Amino acid sequence: MGSARSIKAPEGTRDLLPDEAAYWRNFQKVAIEVFGRYGYQPIDTPIFEQTDLFVRGIGEATDVVSKEMYTAISGGNLRQLLAGEPLRTNARLSLRPEGTAGVVRAVVQHDLVPQGAAPVKLMYAGPMFRAERAQKGRQRQFNQIGVECLGADAPSIDAEAIVMLMRFFAEIGIRPSSMRLLLNSMGCENCRPAYRGKVRAFLDEHNGELCETCRARKETNPLRAFDCKEPGCAEVMAHAPHITDYLCDDCREHYNLVKELLDAAHVFYEEDPTLVRGLDYYTRTVFEVQVIDGLGSQNAIGGGGRYDKLAEEVGGRPTAGLGFALGYERCVLALQAQGFEFAPVQSCDVFVACVDESLRHEAFGLVQLCRDSGFKAEMDHQGRSLKSQFKLADKLGAARVAILGPDEWATGQVKLRDMGTHTEILVSASDLPNALSRALL
Ligand code: HAM
Repeated sequence: MGSARSIKAPEGTRDLLPDEAAYWRNFQKVAIEVFGRYGYQPIDTPIFEQTDLFVRGIGEATDVVSKEMYTAISGGNLRQLLAGEPLRTNARLSLRPEGTAGVVRAVVQHDLVPQGAAPVKLMYAGPMFRAERAQKGRQRQFNQIGVECLGADAPSIDAEAIVMLMRFFAEIGIRPSSMRLLLNSMGCENCRPAYRGKVRAFLDEHNGELCETCRARKETNPLRAFDCKEPGCAEVMAHAPHITDYLCDDCREHYNLVKELLDAAHVFYEEDPTLVRGLDYYTRTVFEVQVIDGLGSQNAIGGGGRYDKLAEEVGGRPTAGLGFALGYERCVLALQAQGFEFAPVQSCDVFVACVDESLRHEAFGLVQLCRDSGFKAEMDHQGRSLKSQFKLADKLGAARVAILGPDEWATGQVKLRDMGTHTEILVSASDLPNALSRALL
């Protein structure tokens, strides 16, 4: 019988091995701590939602929705589809490509911002799914940490979130000088239609220079041409009209206040009037943090903005909103470009070794005693010699080895060896946890 073909993780996905898995948990802990200082509380929403939520929330003409969603039809409905029968809207489910739509859906569904209530501040962490062409920094399953604040349209909410995002990046160790913060305003339902018309007219003038996709979506969503990576389109869009020249008075004032507050907090930003972001729900403030070196074209480590119409879009009452998400894997790449390495996980405080087989059961009991007292304890399970038990203890990084020998055990004692200094002391077996506390804590 030939050996079976080995199966690898799907393209665009990555295993987080123990050292990194531990780091990812710590990364989330830092986010909970930093964002908690600003009043953000954890929320967990499903990893899949009705497809319609993303179509309505993120926008049908976006790449994320039109090309990159993983969509499934649940069991019974598939039979219906194959039989040529029409599908109910809620029969189609998609893996979440981002977290905002789901969180806003949950806020609306559970009425978390009743009229007149204080804003609700929520944060989440977990996997997102986009069927993109995989490359460095671009995966099909990736982890995001995001925040959403619903129920306040004040510019101070925007500025506070941006300050908080930069604080988090600094706290995990990304050098401030290696990042740039881009800022723009997308206007609102009052001023954006006129601007959209200007961009459409501009695209009409340059129709021959545009790619097929930009030509096709010029009518439905001309602003998406700013995101197009085709060199011809990028060249054209470099000369397109700027939204900041078309903002209404309210949007201009909102934008100016965000900038003033960032100035007051000494957060440096670059205004980028071509920053439109890849999702259709944005109104007013948008921002993105890019790293200067090490990530190539996938250099955005985080981004977000205001979405004052999204709650209505998913069936709720008018509720202002603002948030951002940061990409865990890209943060790691940025840190690695600065020389960062994952710290090995310390998996053993004490290794219980037996001089001979006859004391295995006693060793087994002693290991449990150490674990129940809060220590990471290990023993051999493969019948190793004493010498190779020591080698294993060393490999596991054990600071102490408790040695069970027949002579000491006859008086209820074990030898406790310090693996650093190689000195040994005799301790009573029942007192081993206390001896470890004295030695290690
Ligand atoms: P986004 O810009 O699409 O925004 O994603 C946020 C971050 O997720 C990016 O800056 C990047 O670091 C990371 N990211 C996105 N796609 C990938 C990928 N294929 N592979 C690896 N990392 C990726 C949002 O998702 C919005 N929901 C942010 C937001 C929250 N806006 C308002 N509230």
